[in-house]
Amino acid sequence: MNQSILAVHDLEAHYGISQVLFGVDLTIEKGQCVALLGRNGAGKSTTMKAISGIHPGTSGRVVFNGQSIFKDKAYRIARSGLAFVPEDRQTFPEHTVEENLLIAAKPDSSGTYKWSLEHIYRTFPLLVPLRHRQGGLLSGGEQQLLVIARALMGNPSLLLLDEPSEGLAPVIVQQIARCVAGLLKTGATILLAEQNMHFCLHIATHVAVIDKGRVVYTGTVEELRRNDDIKKRYLSV
Ligand SMILES: Nc1ncnc2c1ncn2[C@@H]1O[C@H](COP(=O)(O)OP(=O)(O)OP(=O)(O)O)[C@@H](O)[C@H]1O
Ligand SMILES: [Mg+2]
Repeated sequence: MNQSILAVHDLEAHYGISQVLFGVDLTIEKGQCVALLGRNGAGKSTTMKAISGIHPGTSGRVVFNGQSIFKDKAYRIARSGLAFVPEDRQTFPEHTVEENLLIAAKPDSSGTYKWSLEHIYRTFPLLVPLRHRQGGLLSGGEQQLLVIARALMGNPSLLLLDEPSEGLAPVIVQQIARCVAGLLKTGATILLAEQNMHFCLHIATHVAVIDKGRVVYTGTVEELRRNDDIKKRYLSV
């Protein structure tokens, strides 16, 4: 049987006494790009924070590469090969682009460095002329590219991207879409949280629609494309 890279079952999460995830179910197989789609406040970021241990869930199961990571510390989850790029796109502002990348360099679980600086610059040519610029001086789109590239320097087996297109100009959004699509061709596995369905439909292979802290629909991108009811009900289109 095909073992999932990530299997999330019945995940619940709270902020204080307020419950925001009510049993999220999600699986990702190697090489897939699963779009986690949902409106404002649906629970996309909380799901990612719970998976990556940044804001641990209160109950449920999270299995990554066959190991339970539920309740593990965030640094252990990161070291085991799960990279989370949060929606705030924070770089190390005083450090150059290249230093931001080098800080994050680590091998994968087998000790291999698939991503080198040279490989990163080939994949993200827009970063080449910026390599000596401080992270804090980059535009929003440039910062987004840098934080994705920085995550890859850790050679993760799964990449969680939280709304990479949010608030960016259409031309930059296209560049980020091209970059994510390129990563998939190299065999990356990605969970992509987005409100922007159109951004995802050209990139993702599968979708999970989240609403009010529950996954209410899963399918392939093609199945969602044909499902006007789900799109109208949960995605404001
Ligand atoms: N730190 C927090 N403390 C209290 N409530 C929070 C906190 N963060 C998020 N929430 C609430 O949890 C719910 C889910 O929020 P979450 O950020 O996961 O949604 P989202 O799908 O990522 O939305 P968006 O598309 O706006 O980023 C929302 O009702 C939100 O108000
Ligand atoms: Mg969010």
